[in-house]
Amino acid sequence: MGKTILEVKDFSFTYNQAINKVLDHVNFRVDRGSFFCIIGANGSGKSTLCNSLVGLIPHYFSGEMEGGIRVDGMDVRKSSIGELSQKIGLVFQNPFNQLSYTAGTVAEELAYGLGNRGVPGKVMQEKIEHMAQLMRIDDVLSKNPTELSGGQVQRVALGSVFILDPEILVLDECTTQLDPLGAEEIFEIVKKINGSGVTVIVVDHDMERVASYADEVLVLSGGRAVKIGSPRSVFTDPELEQYGVNPPEYVKISDMLRKKGYTNRETAITEDQSIQMVKEALKG
Ligand SMILES: Nc1ncnc2c1ncn2[C@@H]1O[C@H](COP(=O)(O)OP(=O)(O)OP(=O)(O)O)[C@@H](O)[C@H]1O
Ligand SMILES: [Mg+2]
Repeated sequence: MGKTILEVKDFSFTYNQAINKVLDHVNFRVDRGSFFCIIGANGSGKSTLCNSLVGLIPHYFSGEMEGGIRVDGMDVRKSSIGELSQKIGLVFQNPFNQLSYTAGTVAEELAYGLGNRGVPGKVMQEKIEHMAQLMRIDDVLSKNPTELSGGQVQRVALGSVFILDPEILVLDECTTQLDPLGAEEIFEIVKKINGSGVTVIVVDHDMERVASYADEVLVLSGGRAVKIGSPRSVFTDPELEQYGVNPPEYVKISDMLRKKGYTNRETAITEDQSIQMVKEALKG
C-alpha cells in the first residue's frame, strides 16, 4: 500500500462554452488516511475539483480536460463513475442534489446505494438503523425526503454517503444547512471516520475548523493550487489574504500579542494554542 491514495497531476478543466480554465494545472497528492482540507474564495474551483475527484468530471459534466487524476491507482478518465464510487464518495455542497428523488422515504434513500450493491436485506436494515441514529434522523425515517428541513436533508445526504463506507470521503461544504452545534457534531463524526483509516477530503470555509482538523491544507485561487502545506504553514503565510482567504482569528490575536510584546511564542492557529498563549501573556 503506497502512501499516496490520490494524485492530481497537472489537471486543468474548462466547462463547455466557457472560455477560461476553472482548474488550471493543479498538482497535489493526498496521503492515505489523512484529513485533507481544500480552501479558497467563492468561485475558486473547489466544487469543480471535488466533482473531478469522483469522476463527475469528465463523465457527467462535459468540457475540456488536461492532465489526470488517479484514485488509489484508478485513472479517473478511464474508470466509470460506478467503479469509482466503490472507492470514493462525495457529499455535494447542495444536499438537495444528493437526493435520488425516487426513494419514497428517508429509509429508502439511505438504502439506495446499498441496494445497487446487492447488500442483503438484513444487513441493509442494520446499517440503516445505525446510520439513522448516528445522523439523528431516526425520527424521520418514514418521511418523504422532499418534506424535510434543509438541515435534515443535509443529514440524510451525509448518511447516504457514509453508509457506503467509502475508502475516501469527499465533503464539499457539507454543513451549510446545519446550526453551529450540528456542524460541530458532523465534524466530530467525520474525524472518527478518519480515525478508522478513511481518507477524508473536506472543502470548508470555516478556517478555525480547518486549522483544528486538517493534516494538510490546499489553497485554490482562480483555479490554481497556490499553496499546499500544514495548517500552520498555510495560515501564517502573509500572502494568504491575497488569495481571498482570511486566517483564523487566533492568528490575528497572536500577531497583536507579539507586536505589543506580550509573547514571543509561535503563532497560535487553534483555540487551544491561543488560550495557552493568552494565559502565558497574563502571567508575564
Ligand atoms: N456546470 C458549470 N458550467 C459552467 N461553469 C461552471 C459550472 N459549475 C461551476 N462553473 C464555474 O466554475 C467556476 C468555479 O466554480 P466552483 O463551483 O467550482 O467554485 P467554488 O470554489 O466551489 O465556489 P463556492 O465557494 O461558491 O462553492 C465559477 O466561475 C463557476 O461559475
Ligand atoms: Mg463550491
